[in-house]
Amino acid sequence: MSARREERERSMPEGAPRGSAGAPAAYRLRLMRKEDIPFVMPIEVLSYSLPWTEAAFERELDDIPFSRLLAVESAAEKKDAGRAAILGYGCWWMVKGECHITNVTVAPEARRKGVGRFLLWGILDDARRRGATEATLEVRVSNAAAIALYENFGFTSVAMREGYYPDNGEDAMVMWMASL
Ligand SMILES: CC(C)(COP(=O)(O)OP(=O)(O)OC[C@H]1O[C@@H](n2cnc3c(N)ncnc32)[C@H](O)[C@@H]1OP(=O)(O)O)[C@@H](O)C(=O)NCCC(=O)NCCS
Repeated sequence: MSARREERERSMPEGAPRGSAGAPAAYRLRLMRKEDIPFVMPIEVLSYSLPWTEAAFERELDDIPFSRLLAVESAAEKKDAGRAAILGYGCWWMVKGECHITNVTVAPEARRKGVGRFLLWGILDDARRRGATEATLEVRVSNAAAIALYENFGFTSVAMREGYYPDNGEDAMVMWMASL
């Protein structure tokens, strides 16, 4: 496998979370592509009150050189017309050696099966490999599921941004991981 392909399709990154019986996780991580956007959009719209638009995903892919968009698909699923269903996706930016996580999303029907954990592990692994030493993100204070996920990885709350979200004026919690 070429180095490039290997980077795109790392089915089981070393140290990634494993299934309950110690078996390799059933998920595969790869870079997101433009063709994925129509499959990602319905998940995005179902998941957020302020979803990213199609143009926003395109911008991340085309115009922001320090942005990394990753997709999780089922490793077991037979590819239908060349594509496995996208179960989740995430985005992070490399900013001065810091991994700024800007999107972590799992399809509603795929939640609570370890996809979020696999995805976050994949984002942090990708960031580490590219030289990031710290990671940060913002999360709605009411988002108990995401906060629990992040805390499990060692993120801690370091600040609040009051009234950060324009749809309901909710506060954002800034979370930080000091050593990636
Ligand atoms: C947050 C989200 C990514 C979690 O994805 P997931 O695939 O369901 O998470 P996992 O199954 O990998 O769970 C990992 C951990 O997250 C936490 N968690 C996930 N869902 C949870 C829930 N509904 N309630 C409480 N904790 C939850 C738990 O600590 C869990 O560990 P456990 O299974 O040992 O209890 C998913 O709920 C999601 O996409 N939400 C909508 C989008 C969103 O809010 N993204 C975050 C933006 S900052």
